[in-house]
Amino acid sequence: MQLATLLPWTDRQGRTVPLKAMAFSLILLPGLLYAWWWWHGDLIGRPLDEVIDATGDWALRFFILSLLITPLRYLLDAPRIVPLRRMVGVAAVAYALIHLGLYATDQQWNLATVALEIIRRTYLTIGFIVVLGLVVLGVTSTDGWIRRLGSRWKRLHRLVFILIPLGLLHYFIQSKADVSQPVLWSGFFIWLGLWRLLPAIRRSWLPALLALAPLTGLLTAAIEYLWYATATNIPAMRVFLANLDVTFGPRPAVWVAIIAAAVALASWPAKQLVAKLTPAPVRRPRPARARAPQEG
Ligand code: HEM
Repeated sequence: MQLATLLPWTDRQGRTVPLKAMAFSLILLPGLLYAWWWWHGDLIGRPLDEVIDATGDWALRFFILSLLITPLRYLLDAPRIVPLRRMVGVAAVAYALIHLGLYATDQQWNLATVALEIIRRTYLTIGFIVVLGLVVLGVTSTDGWIRRLGSRWKRLHRLVFILIPLGLLHYFIQSKADVSQPVLWSGFFIWLGLWRLLPAIRRSWLPALLALAPLTGLLTAAIEYLWYATATNIPAMRVFLANLDVTFGPRPAVWVAIIAAAVALASWPAKQLVAKLTPAPVRRPRPARARAPQEG
């Protein structure tokens, strides 16, 4: 196997694919930015804590965003974006491992303490289960494993629908009183999950996509309500009703609904653009078959 074919931005022939190169750069960007800010002393508070939080955030974001590729592929009629799913998923694994590594650094690499903390603190136990799951999904995402596992591969990779909620729970528990961010990302997860539940022929049907927006918003607000009602002393109903008041800007559930509606509305012009940028291959006329000589 050629080394060039193993690079994240190349295809199976080892040629650079601009779309993959661009996605790879975007995936690296948060990590590089935080490394730069850390190096230059630009992080407020305790830098290690900041970077632990940031890598956790990006691990979860990429994990959830990996669910966006398949619906987008149908919505934009763009099969070329399919390989990005693996790249985004592997990015989630990488950020999660760095997140765990930084946590171990915070514990001076005293692995006994790390293990004890993971056993003792529920949110760390949950995080550890997600890391293990992510590693299994990452390792089995190669072509070889896809072939080897056959139909079982799809079943195994449905684990994402258990691991992402666990990752979100890890986020909720450590967020304490302000859960706006975990609520927002729970909303994106609900939206993408519902989108995938639509019958295949309805997945790029505008009315169905538009209907998903208020439904997602309502379910996201319900998750937020449940969190405040069960895990805090904050009046959950007041938080729920605050979604109707945009004086201080839209709340996470409203944001999710707005983004879901915007994606639905933007899908038609985006599809036209993608079609223009990636024209269908020109079919060459077949050479006329030579006629069999007539027997005389
Ligand atoms: C054994 C595995 C893990 C450990 C030891 C761990 C540890 C931590 C720690 C110490 C924090 C900061 C808590 C605080 O600020 O009080 C944190 C936050 C976080 N972790 Fe993890 N984590 C693990 C796995 C994961 C995984 C697999 C994900 C995502 C897929 C994840 C996502 C997050 C997120 C989103 C935050 C919140 C960041 C923020 O507040 O902005 N963690 N984790």
